[in-house]
Amino acid sequence: MGRPFPWILCVYVLLLSSSAGRCRAGITSSYRRKLAWSVDLPVDDPHLKAPEGYNAPQQVHIHQGDYEGRAVIISWVTQDEPGDGKVYYGQVQGGENSTFVTGQTYTYSFYNYTSGFLHHAVITGLEFSTKYFYTLGSGNVTREFWFTTPPESKLDTAYTFGVIGDLGQTADSLATLEHYMNGSGQALLFVGDLSYADVYPYHDNNRWDTWCRLIEPSAAYQPWIWTAGNHELDFLPEFGETIPFKPYTHRFHVPFRASNSTSPMWYSIKRGPATIIVLSSYSAFGKYTPQYVWLEAALKVVDRTVTPWLIVLIHAPLYNTHAGHYYEGEPMRVIFEPFFVQYKVDIIFAGHVHAYERTYPVSNVNYNIEDGQCTPAVNVSAPVYVVVGDGGNIEGLSSPSTRPQANYSAFREESFGHGVFEIQNYTHALFSWHRNQDGVQVAADSAVILNQFFS
Ligand SMILES: *[C@@H]1O[C@H](CO)[C@@H](O)[C@H](O)[C@H]1NC(C)=O
Ligand SMILES: *[C@@H]1O[C@H](CO)[C@@H](O)[C@H](O)[C@H]1NC(C)=O
Ligand SMILES: *[C@@H]1O[C@H](CO)[C@@H](O)[C@H](O)[C@H]1NC(C)=O
Ligand SMILES: *[C@@H]1O[C@H](CO)[C@@H](O)[C@H](O)[C@H]1NC(C)=O
Ligand SMILES: *[C@@H]1O[C@H](CO)[C@@H](O)[C@H](O)[C@H]1NC(C)=O
Ligand SMILES: *[C@@H]1O[C@H](CO)[C@@H](O)[C@H](O)[C@H]1NC(C)=O
Ligand SMILES: *[C@@H]1O[C@H](CO)[C@@H](O)[C@H](O)[C@H]1NC(C)=O
Ligand SMILES: *[C@@H]1O[C@H](CO)[C@@H](O)[C@H](O)[C@H]1NC(C)=O
Ligand SMILES: [Fe+2]
Repeated sequence: MGRPFPWILCVYVLLLSSSAGRCRAGITSSYRRKLAWSVDLPVDDPHLKAPEGYNAPQQVHIHQGDYEGRAVIISWVTQDEPGDGKVYYGQVQGGENSTFVTGQTYTYSFYNYTSGFLHHAVITGLEFSTKYFYTLGSGNVTREFWFTTPPESKLDTAYTFGVIGDLGQTADSLATLEHYMNGSGQALLFVGDLSYADVYPYHDNNRWDTWCRLIEPSAAYQPWIWTAGNHELDFLPEFGETIPFKPYTHRFHVPFRASNSTSPMWYSIKRGPATIIVLSSYSAFGKYTPQYVWLEAALKVVDRTVTPWLIVLIHAPLYNTHAGHYYEGEPMRVIFEPFFVQYKVDIIFAGHVHAYERTYPVSNVNYNIEDGQCTPAVNVSAPVYVVVGDGGNIEGLSSPSTRPQANYSAFREESFGHGVFEIQNYTHALFSWHRNQDGVQVAADSAVILNQFFS
Protein backbone atom coordinates (compact mmCIF):
# COMPACT_ATOMS: atom_id res chain seq x y z
CA MET A 1 0.00 0.00 0.00
CA GLY A 2 1.49 3.28 1.07
CA ARG A 3 2.81 5.63 -1.54
CA PRO A 4 3.30 4.16 -4.97
CA PHE A 5 3.86 7.56 -6.59
CA PRO A 6 7.32 8.39 -5.22
CA TRP A 7 8.48 4.96 -6.31
CA ILE A 8 7.25 5.41 -9.84
CA LEU A 9 9.14 8.69 -9.84
CA CYS A 10 12.15 6.96 -8.41
CA VAL A 11 12.20 4.39 -11.20
CA TYR A 12 11.88 7.20 -13.73
CA VAL A 13 14.88 8.96 -12.22
CA LEU A 14 16.79 5.73 -12.14
CA LEU A 15 16.06 4.86 -15.74
CA LEU A 16 16.64 8.32 -17.08
CA SER A 17 19.86 9.08 -15.26
CA SER A 18 23.16 7.44 -15.97
CA SER A 19 24.30 7.59 -12.36
CA ALA A 20 22.52 4.53 -11.08
CA GLY A 21 22.17 4.01 -7.37
CA ARG A 22 20.37 7.23 -6.63
CA CYS A 23 17.39 5.39 -5.21
CA ARG A 24 19.42 3.10 -3.11
CA ALA A 25 17.13 1.89 -0.41
CA GLY A 26 14.40 -0.52 -1.47
CA ILE A 27 11.25 -1.08 0.50
CA THR A 28 10.65 -4.04 2.76
CA SER A 29 6.92 -3.61 3.12
CA SER A 30 5.66 -2.98 6.61
CA TYR A 31 2.27 -4.45 5.76
CA ARG A 32 1.42 -7.22 8.21
CA ARG A 33 -0.89 -9.90 6.92
CA LYS A 34 -2.92 -12.13 9.17
CA LEU A 35 -0.90 -15.26 9.74
CA ALA A 36 -3.06 -18.23 8.85
CA TRP A 37 -2.26 -21.71 7.70
CA SER A 38 -3.46 -22.51 4.18
CA VAL A 39 -5.21 -25.81 3.60
CA ASP A 40 -6.58 -27.09 0.30
CA LEU A 41 -10.26 -26.62 -0.44
CA PRO A 42 -12.15 -29.89 0.16
CA VAL A 43 -12.82 -31.96 -2.97
CA ASP A 44 -16.56 -31.31 -2.67
CA ASP A 45 -16.10 -27.53 -2.57
CA PRO A 46 -18.37 -26.00 -5.25
CA HIS A 47 -15.33 -24.47 -6.99
CA LEU A 48 -13.75 -27.90 -7.43
CA LYS A 49 -16.81 -29.96 -8.35
CA ALA A 50 -17.37 -31.49 -11.76
CA PRO A 51 -20.28 -30.10 -13.81
CA GLU A 52 -23.55 -32.06 -13.63
CA GLY A 53 -24.48 -34.56 -16.29
CA TYR A 54 -23.20 -37.69 -17.98
CA ASN A 55 -19.80 -37.12 -19.61
CA ALA A 56 -20.08 -33.34 -19.24
CA PRO A 57 -16.99 -31.55 -20.59
CA GLN A 58 -14.92 -30.26 -17.69
CA GLN A 59 -11.50 -28.76 -16.83
CA VAL A 60 -11.71 -26.50 -19.86
CA HIS A 61 -8.66 -24.33 -20.56
CA ILE A 62 -7.16 -22.66 -23.60
CA HIS A 63 -3.71 -21.68 -24.84
CA GLN A 64 -2.38 -19.80 -27.83
CA GLY A 65 -1.97 -22.38 -30.58
CA ASP A 66 0.67 -20.86 -32.86
CA TYR A 67 3.53 -18.36 -32.83
CA GLU A 68 1.52 -15.40 -34.20
CA GLY A 69 -1.74 -15.48 -32.20
CA ARG A 70 -4.16 -16.73 -34.87
CA ALA A 71 -4.66 -20.20 -33.41
CA VAL A 72 -6.01 -21.46 -30.09
CA ILE A 73 -5.62 -24.83 -28.37
CA ILE A 74 -8.82 -25.90 -26.59
CA SER A 75 -8.26 -28.50 -23.86
CA TRP A 76 -10.90 -30.34 -21.82
CA VAL A 77 -11.68 -33.63 -20.12
CA THR A 78 -14.58 -36.05 -20.40
CA GLN A 79 -14.74 -38.51 -17.55
CA ASP A 80 -17.13 -41.26 -18.67
CA GLU A 81 -16.29 -41.89 -22.33
CA PRO A 82 -14.20 -40.29 -25.09
CA GLY A 83 -17.19 -38.59 -26.73
CA ASP A 84 -16.86 -37.07 -30.18
CA GLY A 85 -13.88 -34.82 -29.32
CA LYS A 86 -15.35 -31.95 -31.33
CA VAL A 87 -15.16 -28.23 -30.74
CA TYR A 88 -17.80 -26.14 -32.53
CA TYR A 89 -16.74 -22.54 -32.93
CA GLY A 90 -17.72 -19.32 -34.65
CA GLN A 91 -18.28 -15.62 -34.12
CA VAL A 92 -21.95 -16.12 -33.28
CA GLN A 93 -23.20 -17.27 -29.91
CA GLY A 94 -25.25 -20.45 -29.81
CA GLY A 95 -23.17 -22.46 -32.25
CA GLU A 96 -25.63 -22.00 -35.10
CA ASN A 97 -23.82 -22.19 -38.46
CA SER A 98 -20.55 -22.82 -36.66
CA THR A 99 -17.82 -25.06 -37.94
CA PHE A 100 -15.89 -27.63 -35.93
CA VAL A 101 -12.47 -29.18 -35.37
CA THR A 102 -11.87 -32.61 -33.86
CA GLY A 103 -9.25 -32.85 -31.15
CA GLN A 104 -6.89 -35.62 -30.21
CA THR A 105 -7.67 -37.67 -27.13
CA TYR A 106 -5.17 -38.95 -24.60
CA THR A 107 -5.21 -40.80 -21.30
CA TYR A 108 -2.42 -41.46 -18.85
CA SER A 109 -1.96 -43.35 -15.62
CA PHE A 110 0.04 -42.34 -12.59
CA TYR A 111 0.74 -45.11 -10.07
CA ASN A 112 -2.85 -46.33 -9.47
CA TYR A 113 -4.63 -43.28 -10.91
CA THR A 114 -6.12 -43.34 -14.41
CA SER A 115 -7.05 -40.07 -16.04
CA GLY A 116 -10.29 -39.25 -17.81
CA PHE A 117 -10.19 -38.59 -21.55
CA LEU A 118 -7.98 -35.57 -22.13
CA HIS A 119 -8.87 -33.70 -25.32
CA HIS A 120 -6.76 -31.11 -27.12
CA ALA A 121 -8.07 -29.45 -30.27
CA VAL A 122 -6.33 -26.73 -32.29
CA ILE A 123 -8.39 -24.05 -34.02
CA THR A 124 -6.39 -22.23 -36.71
CA GLY A 125 -6.92 -19.39 -39.16
CA LEU A 126 -8.61 -17.03 -36.70
CA GLU A 127 -8.87 -13.27 -37.18
CA PHE A 128 -6.97 -10.98 -34.83
CA SER A 129 -8.86 -9.00 -32.14
CA THR A 130 -12.02 -11.05 -32.61
CA LYS A 131 -14.37 -12.71 -30.16
CA TYR A 132 -15.16 -16.38 -30.83
CA PHE A 133 -17.65 -18.65 -29.09
CA TYR A 134 -16.94 -22.35 -28.76
CA THR A 135 -19.06 -25.29 -27.65
CA LEU A 136 -17.93 -28.63 -26.24
CA GLY A 137 -19.80 -31.84 -25.55
CA SER A 138 -22.26 -33.89 -27.47
CA GLY A 139 -25.64 -35.33 -26.57
CA ASN A 140 -27.35 -34.05 -23.47
CA VAL A 141 -24.56 -31.92 -21.99
CA THR A 142 -23.03 -29.12 -24.03
CA ARG A 143 -21.18 -26.15 -22.60
CA GLU A 144 -20.38 -22.89 -24.36
CA PHE A 145 -17.41 -20.58 -23.71
CA TRP A 146 -15.70 -17.74 -25.55
CA PHE A 147 -12.31 -16.12 -26.08
CA THR A 148 -10.92 -13.05 -27.81
CA THR A 149 -7.90 -13.34 -30.09
CA PRO A 150 -5.01 -10.90 -29.49
CA PRO A 151 -4.37 -7.84 -31.65
CA GLU A 152 -1.98 -8.31 -34.55
CA SER A 153 1.61 -7.72 -33.44
CA LYS A 154 2.77 -4.26 -34.38
CA LEU A 155 4.77 -1.47 -32.88
CA ASP A 156 2.16 0.61 -31.08
CA THR A 157 -0.27 -1.83 -29.50
CA ALA A 158 -1.68 -1.93 -25.98
CA TYR A 159 -2.23 -5.21 -24.15
CA THR A 160 -2.58 -6.27 -20.53
CA PHE A 161 -1.15 -9.48 -19.09
CA GLY A 162 -1.85 -10.89 -15.65
CA VAL A 163 0.93 -12.68 -13.79
CA ILE A 164 0.33 -15.49 -11.28
CA GLY A 165 2.63 -18.14 -9.85
CA ASP A 166 2.51 -21.02 -7.37
CA LEU A 167 -1.27 -21.04 -7.22
CA GLY A 168 -2.36 -24.33 -5.64
CA GLN A 169 -5.95 -24.87 -4.52
CA THR A 170 -6.50 -23.31 -1.10
CA ALA A 171 -8.93 -20.57 -0.07
CA ASP A 172 -6.03 -18.17 -0.71
CA SER A 173 -5.63 -19.58 -4.23
CA LEU A 174 -9.32 -18.95 -4.86
CA ALA A 175 -8.99 -15.40 -3.52
CA THR A 176 -6.08 -14.74 -5.90
CA LEU A 177 -8.03 -16.18 -8.82
CA GLU A 178 -11.18 -14.16 -8.10
CA HIS A 179 -9.15 -11.03 -7.50
CA TYR A 180 -7.39 -11.52 -10.84
CA MET A 181 -10.66 -12.17 -12.66
CA ASN A 182 -12.05 -8.85 -11.40
CA GLY A 183 -9.15 -7.02 -13.04
CA SER A 184 -8.25 -6.20 -16.62
CA GLY A 185 -5.87 -9.03 -17.60
CA GLN A 186 -6.43 -10.28 -21.17
CA ALA A 187 -4.08 -13.27 -20.94
CA LEU A 188 -2.27 -14.78 -17.98
CA LEU A 189 1.45 -15.39 -17.68
CA PHE A 190 1.64 -18.37 -15.32
CA VAL A 191 5.11 -18.83 -13.83
CA GLY A 192 4.89 -22.43 -12.65
CA ASP A 193 3.74 -24.62 -9.74
CA LEU A 194 0.14 -25.26 -10.65
CA SER A 195 -1.90 -27.75 -8.62
CA TYR A 196 0.41 -28.97 -5.83
CA ALA A 197 -1.15 -32.42 -6.33
CA ASP A 198 2.29 -33.80 -5.51
CA VAL A 199 1.96 -32.91 -1.83
CA TYR A 200 -0.58 -35.76 -1.54
CA PRO A 201 0.38 -39.42 -1.05
CA TYR A 202 1.29 -40.98 -4.41
CA HIS A 203 0.85 -37.47 -5.89
CA ASP A 204 -2.90 -38.13 -5.96
CA ASN A 205 -3.71 -36.97 -9.48
CA ASN A 206 -7.36 -36.40 -8.58
CA ARG A 207 -5.95 -33.12 -7.25
CA TRP A 208 -4.87 -32.27 -10.81
CA ASP A 209 -8.51 -32.70 -11.83
CA THR A 210 -9.81 -30.50 -9.00
CA TRP A 211 -7.25 -27.81 -9.86
CA CYS A 212 -8.21 -27.77 -13.53
CA ARG A 213 -11.82 -27.28 -12.46
CA LEU A 214 -10.85 -24.46 -10.07
CA ILE A 215 -9.17 -22.39 -12.80
CA GLU A 216 -11.75 -23.03 -15.52
CA PRO A 217 -13.74 -19.81 -14.88
CA SER A 218 -10.68 -17.88 -16.10
CA ALA A 219 -8.66 -20.38 -18.14
CA ALA A 220 -11.56 -21.35 -20.44
CA TYR A 221 -11.92 -17.72 -21.54
CA GLN A 222 -8.35 -16.45 -21.85
CA PRO A 223 -5.06 -18.28 -22.39
CA TRP A 224 -2.95 -19.17 -19.41
CA ILE A 225 0.59 -19.20 -20.79
CA TRP A 226 2.21 -22.12 -18.98
CA THR A 227 5.66 -22.36 -17.41
CA ALA A 228 6.60 -25.58 -15.57
CA GLY A 229 7.74 -25.47 -11.94
CA ASN A 230 9.20 -28.06 -9.61
CA HIS A 231 5.70 -29.19 -8.59
CA GLU A 232 5.12 -30.25 -12.20
CA LEU A 233 8.01 -32.76 -12.10
CA ASP A 234 5.89 -35.55 -10.56
CA PHE A 235 8.98 -37.73 -10.34
CA LEU A 236 8.12 -40.72 -8.12
CA PRO A 237 10.51 -43.53 -9.00
CA GLU A 238 9.72 -45.59 -5.89
CA PHE A 239 6.22 -46.01 -7.32
CA GLY A 240 7.36 -46.56 -10.90
CA GLU A 241 6.83 -42.99 -12.10
CA THR A 242 10.16 -42.14 -13.70
CA ILE A 243 9.14 -39.77 -16.53
CA PRO A 244 9.27 -36.17 -15.31
CA PHE A 245 6.36 -33.84 -16.13
CA LYS A 246 3.99 -36.67 -17.14
CA PRO A 247 0.70 -35.23 -15.78
CA TYR A 248 1.73 -31.69 -16.80
CA THR A 249 2.55 -32.50 -20.43
CA HIS A 250 -0.58 -34.61 -20.86
CA ARG A 251 -2.88 -31.93 -19.48
CA PHE A 252 -1.39 -28.71 -20.84
CA HIS A 253 -0.48 -28.36 -24.49
CA VAL A 254 1.63 -25.46 -25.75
CA PRO A 255 2.64 -24.66 -29.36
CA PHE A 256 6.33 -25.36 -28.85
CA ARG A 257 7.02 -26.56 -32.40
CA ALA A 258 5.81 -23.23 -33.78
CA SER A 259 8.89 -21.58 -32.26
CA ASN A 260 11.20 -24.40 -33.42
CA SER A 261 11.45 -25.82 -29.90
CA THR A 262 11.88 -29.56 -29.51
CA SER A 263 10.24 -29.67 -26.07
CA PRO A 264 7.04 -28.32 -24.51
CA MET A 265 9.16 -27.22 -21.55
CA TRP A 266 10.53 -24.21 -23.45
CA TYR A 267 8.86 -22.24 -26.21
CA SER A 268 8.04 -18.78 -27.37
CA ILE A 269 4.98 -16.94 -28.69
CA LYS A 270 4.17 -13.50 -29.98
CA ARG A 271 1.06 -12.00 -28.45
CA GLY A 272 0.08 -8.46 -29.37
CA PRO A 273 3.00 -6.14 -28.58
CA ALA A 274 5.07 -8.80 -26.79
CA THR A 275 7.27 -11.76 -27.49
CA ILE A 276 7.05 -14.14 -24.55
CA ILE A 277 9.85 -16.63 -23.97
CA VAL A 278 9.10 -19.50 -21.59
CA LEU A 279 12.03 -21.35 -20.03
CA SER A 280 12.38 -24.44 -17.87
CA SER A 281 14.31 -24.30 -14.60
CA TYR A 282 14.10 -28.11 -14.42
CA SER A 283 15.41 -29.06 -17.84
CA ALA A 284 19.08 -28.90 -18.84
CA PHE A 285 20.14 -25.33 -19.69
CA GLY A 286 23.94 -25.51 -19.75
CA LYS A 287 25.90 -24.48 -22.79
CA TYR A 288 25.21 -26.73 -25.85
CA THR A 289 22.00 -28.19 -24.34
CA PRO A 290 18.83 -28.11 -26.49
CA GLN A 291 17.29 -25.39 -24.32
CA TYR A 292 20.41 -23.19 -24.53
CA VAL A 293 20.75 -23.56 -28.29
CA TRP A 294 17.04 -22.87 -28.75
CA LEU A 295 17.03 -19.77 -26.50
CA GLU A 296 19.79 -18.09 -28.46
CA ALA A 297 17.99 -18.78 -31.75
CA ALA A 298 14.63 -17.64 -30.35
CA LEU A 299 16.13 -14.35 -29.12
CA LYS A 300 17.78 -13.71 -32.49
CA VAL A 301 14.50 -13.85 -34.44
CA VAL A 302 12.68 -11.33 -32.23
CA ASP A 303 11.91 -8.16 -34.21
CA ARG A 304 11.41 -5.38 -31.68
CA THR A 305 9.80 -3.12 -34.27
CA VAL A 306 6.98 -5.71 -34.45
CA THR A 307 6.91 -6.88 -30.82
CA PRO A 308 8.63 -4.08 -28.88
CA TRP A 309 8.27 -5.88 -25.55
CA LEU A 310 10.38 -8.91 -24.67
CA ILE A 311 9.20 -10.89 -21.65
CA VAL A 312 10.80 -14.00 -20.13
CA LEU A 313 9.01 -16.46 -17.84
CA ILE A 314 10.93 -18.85 -15.57
CA HIS A 315 9.95 -20.69 -12.42
CA ALA A 316 13.02 -20.24 -10.19
CA PRO A 317 13.99 -16.53 -9.99
CA LEU A 318 17.46 -15.35 -10.94
CA TYR A 319 17.24 -12.49 -8.43
CA ASN A 320 15.51 -13.00 -5.09
CA THR A 321 16.30 -11.59 -1.65
CA HIS A 322 13.81 -13.69 0.30
CA ALA A 323 15.33 -16.45 2.40
CA GLY A 324 13.08 -19.04 0.73
CA HIS A 325 14.91 -20.69 -2.20
CA TYR A 326 17.73 -18.17 -1.83
CA TYR A 327 20.36 -18.62 -4.56
CA GLU A 328 18.54 -21.50 -6.33
CA GLY A 329 18.38 -19.50 -9.55
CA GLU A 330 22.11 -18.84 -9.61
CA PRO A 331 23.10 -21.64 -12.04
CA MET A 332 20.65 -20.37 -14.65
CA ARG A 333 21.67 -16.76 -14.01
CA VAL A 334 25.28 -17.62 -14.78
CA ILE A 335 24.31 -19.28 -18.07
CA PHE A 336 21.43 -17.12 -19.35
CA GLU A 337 21.86 -13.61 -17.89
CA PRO A 338 24.35 -12.48 -20.58
CA PHE A 339 21.67 -13.28 -23.21
CA PHE A 340 19.01 -11.35 -21.29
CA VAL A 341 21.22 -8.26 -21.07
CA GLN A 342 22.53 -8.53 -24.66
CA TYR A 343 19.07 -8.94 -26.18
CA LYS A 344 17.56 -6.21 -23.97
CA VAL A 345 14.86 -8.29 -22.31
CA ASP A 346 12.44 -5.88 -20.61
CA ILE A 347 11.11 -7.89 -17.71
CA ILE A 348 11.57 -11.38 -16.30
CA PHE A 349 8.78 -12.94 -14.26
CA ALA A 350 9.40 -15.85 -11.90
CA GLY A 351 7.61 -17.70 -9.12
CA HIS A 352 8.88 -20.42 -6.76
CA VAL A 353 9.46 -18.05 -3.82
CA HIS A 354 6.11 -17.62 -2.08
CA ALA A 355 6.30 -13.86 -1.87
CA TYR A 356 6.40 -10.76 -4.04
CA GLU A 357 9.52 -8.86 -5.06
CA ARG A 358 10.42 -6.34 -7.74
CA THR A 359 13.99 -5.35 -8.52
CA TYR A 360 15.42 -2.27 -10.16
CA PRO A 361 17.04 -3.07 -13.51
CA VAL A 362 19.97 -5.20 -12.38
CA SER A 363 22.81 -7.19 -13.85
CA ASN A 364 25.78 -9.17 -12.66
CA VAL A 365 27.29 -10.01 -16.01
CA ASN A 366 30.80 -8.94 -15.13
CA TYR A 367 31.28 -11.47 -12.35
CA ASN A 368 33.60 -14.20 -13.57
CA ILE A 369 34.41 -16.06 -10.30
CA GLU A 370 37.93 -14.57 -10.08
CA ASP A 371 37.41 -10.83 -10.38
CA GLY A 372 35.57 -10.35 -7.10
CA GLN A 373 32.93 -8.16 -8.78
CA CYS A 374 30.16 -10.24 -7.31
CA THR A 375 27.78 -7.48 -6.25
CA PRO A 376 24.84 -7.22 -8.65
CA ALA A 377 24.82 -3.74 -10.18
CA VAL A 378 21.78 -1.56 -10.64
CA ASN A 379 22.21 -1.04 -14.37
CA VAL A 380 19.81 0.96 -16.55
CA SER A 381 20.42 -1.36 -19.48
CA ALA A 382 19.37 -4.56 -17.74
CA PRO A 383 16.02 -6.28 -17.21
CA VAL A 384 13.70 -5.78 -14.23
CA TYR A 385 13.06 -9.01 -12.31
CA VAL A 386 9.73 -9.72 -10.62
CA VAL A 387 8.88 -12.62 -8.31
CA VAL A 388 5.18 -13.46 -7.96
CA GLY A 389 5.25 -16.91 -6.37
CA ASP A 390 2.52 -15.73 -4.03
CA GLY A 391 -0.57 -17.28 -5.65
CA GLY A 392 -1.62 -18.87 -2.34
CA ASN A 393 -0.75 -22.56 -2.22
CA ILE A 394 -0.82 -25.13 0.62
CA GLU A 395 2.81 -24.54 1.57
CA GLY A 396 2.11 -21.01 2.79
CA LEU A 397 4.29 -17.94 2.50
CA SER A 398 8.06 -17.68 2.23
CA SER A 399 10.30 -17.28 5.23
CA PRO A 400 11.51 -13.74 6.01
CA SER A 401 13.77 -11.71 3.78
CA THR A 402 17.53 -11.52 3.90
CA ARG A 403 18.78 -8.38 5.62
CA PRO A 404 19.82 -5.76 4.91
CA GLN A 405 17.77 -5.50 1.72
CA ALA A 406 20.09 -5.71 -1.28
CA ASN A 407 20.42 -2.47 -3.22
CA TYR A 408 18.86 -3.94 -6.35
CA SER A 409 15.66 -4.94 -4.53
CA ALA A 410 13.04 -2.21 -5.01
CA PHE A 411 10.09 -3.68 -3.11
CA ARG A 412 9.38 -6.94 -1.33
CA GLU A 413 6.56 -8.35 0.76
CA GLU A 414 5.37 -11.76 1.89
CA SER A 415 1.66 -11.68 1.06
CA PHE A 416 -0.57 -13.50 -1.39
CA GLY A 417 -1.45 -11.66 -4.58
CA HIS A 418 -0.95 -11.33 -8.33
CA GLY A 419 0.71 -9.01 -10.83
CA VAL A 420 -0.59 -7.00 -13.79
CA PHE A 421 1.68 -5.97 -16.68
CA GLU A 422 -0.11 -3.31 -18.68
CA ILE A 423 1.65 -2.48 -21.95
CA GLN A 424 0.54 1.01 -22.94
CA ASN A 425 2.58 1.59 -26.10
CA TYR A 426 6.07 0.74 -27.35
CA THR A 427 7.88 2.82 -24.76
CA HIS A 428 5.84 2.52 -21.56
CA ALA A 429 4.35 -0.29 -19.51
CA LEU A 430 2.96 -0.24 -16.00
CA PHE A 431 3.61 -3.13 -13.67
CA SER A 432 1.48 -3.37 -10.53
CA TRP A 433 1.15 -5.90 -7.75
CA HIS A 434 -2.18 -6.53 -6.04
CA ARG A 435 -2.33 -8.20 -2.66
CA ASN A 436 -5.44 -10.26 -1.96
CA GLN A 437 -6.49 -8.23 1.06
CA ASP A 438 -7.00 -5.08 -1.02
CA GLY A 439 -9.68 -4.18 -3.56
CA VAL A 440 -8.82 -4.74 -7.20
CA GLN A 441 -8.09 -1.07 -7.90
CA VAL A 442 -5.41 -0.94 -5.20
CA ALA A 443 -1.81 -1.51 -6.25
CA ALA A 444 0.35 -2.39 -3.25
CA ASP A 445 3.38 -1.72 -5.46
CA SER A 446 3.69 -0.31 -8.95
CA ALA A 447 6.36 0.92 -11.30
CA VAL A 448 6.60 2.31 -14.80
CA ILE A 449 8.72 -0.02 -16.91
CA LEU A 450 10.50 1.71 -19.78
CA ASN A 451 11.12 -0.38 -22.87
CA GLN A 452 14.76 -1.49 -22.98
CA PHE A 453 14.98 -1.41 -26.77
CA PHE A 454 13.35 1.98 -27.37
CA SER A 455 14.67 3.96 -24.41
C1 LIG B 1 -27.17 -19.09 -40.37
O1 LIG B 1 -27.12 -19.25 -41.78
C2 LIG B 1 -28.35 -18.94 -42.43
C3 LIG B 1 -28.22 -19.28 -43.90
O2 LIG B 1 -26.97 -18.83 -44.40
C4 LIG B 1 -28.70 -17.48 -42.19
O3 LIG B 1 -29.93 -17.16 -42.78
C5 LIG B 1 -28.77 -17.23 -40.68
O4 LIG B 1 -28.98 -15.85 -40.43
C6 LIG B 1 -27.50 -17.67 -39.99
N1 LIG B 1 -27.67 -17.54 -38.54
C7 LIG B 1 -26.87 -16.81 -37.78
C8 LIG B 1 -27.18 -16.78 -36.33
O5 LIG B 1 -25.89 -16.23 -38.22
C1 LIG C 1 -4.18 -46.10 -4.64
O1 LIG C 1 -3.37 -46.64 -3.65
C2 LIG C 1 -3.56 -46.09 -2.35
C3 LIG C 1 -2.55 -46.71 -1.41
O2 LIG C 1 -2.47 -48.09 -1.59
C4 LIG C 1 -4.98 -46.31 -1.89
O3 LIG C 1 -5.18 -45.67 -0.66
C5 LIG C 1 -5.93 -45.73 -2.93
O4 LIG C 1 -7.28 -46.01 -2.55
C6 LIG C 1 -5.65 -46.31 -4.28
N1 LIG C 1 -6.49 -45.67 -5.27
C7 LIG C 1 -7.07 -46.36 -6.25
C8 LIG C 1 -7.87 -45.56 -7.24
O5 LIG C 1 -6.97 -47.55 -6.35
C1 LIG D 1 -27.59 -38.36 -21.07
O1 LIG D 1 -27.42 -39.35 -22.08
C2 LIG D 1 -27.01 -40.61 -21.59
C3 LIG D 1 -26.69 -41.55 -22.74
O2 LIG D 1 -26.96 -41.00 -23.98
C4 LIG D 1 -28.10 -41.17 -20.68
O3 LIG D 1 -27.69 -42.41 -20.16
C5 LIG D 1 -28.30 -40.20 -19.53
O4 LIG D 1 -29.36 -40.62 -18.72
C6 LIG D 1 -28.62 -38.80 -20.03
N1 LIG D 1 -28.57 -37.89 -18.89
C7 LIG D 1 -29.45 -36.93 -18.70
C8 LIG D 1 -29.24 -36.05 -17.50
O5 LIG D 1 -30.39 -36.73 -19.45
C1 LIG E 1 -15.13 -8.86 -7.53
O1 LIG E 1 -16.09 -7.92 -7.96
C2 LIG E 1 -17.39 -8.15 -7.40
C3 LIG E 1 -18.34 -7.18 -8.05
O2 LIG E 1 -17.82 -5.89 -8.03
C4 LIG E 1 -17.30 -7.98 -5.87
O3 LIG E 1 -18.56 -8.25 -5.30
C5 LIG E 1 -16.29 -8.98 -5.33
O4 LIG E 1 -16.11 -8.77 -3.95
C6 LIG E 1 -14.95 -8.81 -6.03
N1 LIG E 1 -14.07 -9.89 -5.58
C7 LIG E 1 -12.79 -9.70 -5.34
C8 LIG E 1 -12.03 -10.89 -4.89
O5 LIG E 1 -12.24 -8.64 -5.50
C1 LIG F 1 11.82 -21.25 -36.97
O1 LIG F 1 12.62 -21.70 -38.04
C2 LIG F 1 12.29 -21.13 -39.30
C3 LIG F 1 13.13 -21.81 -40.35
O2 LIG F 1 14.47 -21.73 -40.04
C4 LIG F 1 12.53 -19.61 -39.23
O3 LIG F 1 12.16 -19.02 -40.44
C5 LIG F 1 11.70 -19.03 -38.10
O4 LIG F 1 11.98 -17.66 -37.94
C6 LIG F 1 11.96 -19.74 -36.78
N1 LIG F 1 11.02 -19.25 -35.79
C7 LIG F 1 11.38 -18.99 -34.53
C8 LIG F 1 10.31 -18.44 -33.64
O5 LIG F 1 12.48 -19.19 -34.12
C1 LIG G 1 25.57 -2.90 -17.45
O1 LIG G 1 25.01 -3.48 -18.63
C2 LIG G 1 25.84 -3.39 -19.76
C3 LIG G 1 25.11 -3.99 -20.93
O2 LIG G 1 24.12 -3.17 -21.39
C4 LIG G 1 27.14 -4.12 -19.54
O3 LIG G 1 27.97 -3.95 -20.65
C5 LIG G 1 27.82 -3.56 -18.31
O4 LIG G 1 28.95 -4.32 -18.03
C6 LIG G 1 26.86 -3.64 -17.12
N1 LIG G 1 27.49 -3.05 -15.97
C7 LIG G 1 27.60 -3.68 -14.82
C8 LIG G 1 28.29 -2.96 -13.73
O5 LIG G 1 27.17 -4.80 -14.66
C1 LIG H 1 24.25 -0.48 -1.08
O1 LIG H 1 25.16 0.38 -1.74
C2 LIG H 1 25.91 1.18 -0.86
C3 LIG H 1 26.71 2.19 -1.68
O2 LIG H 1 27.40 1.54 -2.70
C4 LIG H 1 26.81 0.31 0.03
O3 LIG H 1 27.50 1.10 0.93
C5 LIG H 1 25.90 -0.66 0.79
O4 LIG H 1 26.72 -1.57 1.50
C6 LIG H 1 25.01 -1.43 -0.16
N1 LIG H 1 24.07 -2.22 0.61
C7 LIG H 1 23.87 -3.51 0.38
C8 LIG H 1 22.85 -4.19 1.25
O5 LIG H 1 24.46 -4.13 -0.49
C1 LIG I 1 3.42 5.98 -24.13
O1 LIG I 1 2.54 6.17 -23.05
C2 LIG I 1 3.09 7.00 -22.03
C3 LIG I 1 2.15 6.97 -20.85
O2 LIG I 1 0.83 7.16 -21.26
C4 LIG I 1 3.32 8.40 -22.58
O3 LIG I 1 3.87 9.22 -21.59
C5 LIG I 1 4.30 8.28 -23.75
O4 LIG I 1 4.49 9.53 -24.34
C6 LIG I 1 3.78 7.30 -24.78
N1 LIG I 1 4.82 7.07 -25.76
C7 LIG I 1 4.57 7.10 -27.05
C8 LIG I 1 5.72 6.83 -27.95
O5 LIG I 1 3.47 7.35 -27.50
FE1 LIG J 1 8.40 -23.93 -6.92
